[in-house]
Amino acid sequence: MKKKKVLVTGGAGFIGGNFVQYMVDKYPQYNIYNLDLLTYAGDLTKHSAIEAKDNYHFIKADIADRMVMIPIFEKEKFDYVVHFAAESHVDRSITDPEIFIRTNVLGTQVLLNAVKQMGVTKFVHVSTDEVYGELDFDPSTFFTEETPIQPNSPYSASKASSDLLVRAYHETYGLPMNITRCSNNYGPYHFPEKLIPLTISRVLNDQKVPVYGDGKNIRDWLHVLDHCVAIDLVLHEGVNGEVYNVGGHNERTNLEVVQTIINALGKSEDLIEFVEDRLGHDKRYAIDPTKLEGLGWRPTYSFETGIAQTIQWYLDNKEWWQQIISGEYQSYFEKQYRL
Ligand code: NAD
Ligand code: DAU
Repeated sequence: MKKKKVLVTGGAGFIGGNFVQYMVDKYPQYNIYNLDLLTYAGDLTKHSAIEAKDNYHFIKADIADRMVMIPIFEKEKFDYVVHFAAESHVDRSITDPEIFIRTNVLGTQVLLNAVKQMGVTKFVHVSTDEVYGELDFDPSTFFTEETPIQPNSPYSASKASSDLLVRAYHETYGLPMNITRCSNNYGPYHFPEKLIPLTISRVLNDQKVPVYGDGKNIRDWLHVLDHCVAIDLVLHEGVNGEVYNVGGHNERTNLEVVQTIINALGKSEDLIEFVEDRLGHDKRYAIDPTKLEGLGWRPTYSFETGIAQTIQWYLDNKEWWQQIISGEYQSYFEKQYRL
């Protein structure tokens, strides 16, 4: 029987990378295509254990380039598309919003047009809880799928725009799709510009850890592998046209997260440095995952287990994040993969 083809955009990044590895291992009967532009956030060394497998394929391409994307779709005729590729860092969107519009909005639209032209069984758009804006500190309030879209940063506005395009292609052209909106992920291969890997790497280097504002902002943390399982489930079992929130009820203040890491590494909390707040800094995110639980999903990692495993991973894989921090990684990848 012909192997089904799964296109994963952004499969050289943090979550897409974990998802590609999970799918290659779990589904030998599928061909997994990792399509990625290899921006600063993408690297292929993470796939050294799977790159020789015959169900893994890599395509270097820009999702926003229609002249490239249409021929790829015509040639490969994908059965499923899971769309992760994006500019993902809120701080970068505050200093340089334009690339967020190009990649996240135009890139999604180009992809949708290619999918519309060639047809697919399912398009899963990986979005974020940030499209809902912020919650206040009342612990009984959560984002549900019915919460109005009210993004506050250029990043979340670009993701919300892409969500609306996916919805519109479903309503107008009958695109078979799901949108997932997940809370903050953490785990292996998290790029060290984000709070958790930034804290681990800086603490290990005895450098100060910048905590924005008073450190009381709350995020709802989910281990990346629990997110991968959720996306797999939505890809195969999601009701066409539906949105699914993904989160595991692991709310922590930023200060608690940083203190947990410092204490686990046996360092002093004097490393904490309170710095100027992020512009438009969302107070709190918290997900109600009841709808996804209705499909049978449950997270397997508590924050305590997940953060301990993650810290150990960064201790065991210093070479990976040290190359990134030193800036050596771009030329290393170019040499390694002749890109
Ligand atoms: P990431 O920044 O680690 O990876 C993004 C990947 O997309 C990189 O490999 C990059 O090279 C690729 N990419 C960027 N522009 C591209 C383009 N024009 N064409 C092709 N590839 C391109 O991001 P991440 O944290 O893994 O997030 C993945 C997705 O999940 C994003 O859509 C993000 O909005 C969403 N999300 C992230 C989180 C989180 O906590 N990180 C939570 C919820 C949702
Ligand atoms: O909620 C999902 C979102 O989570 C994703 O859509 C984004 O792609 C992802 O980057 C993440 O966004 P955040 O802005 O929540 O993540 P970040 O790691 O950048 O910041 C987490 C919190 O920590 C936030 O309140 C800002 C704060 N922070 C961050 C950094 C980088 C600090 O206090 N100091 C820092 O140096």
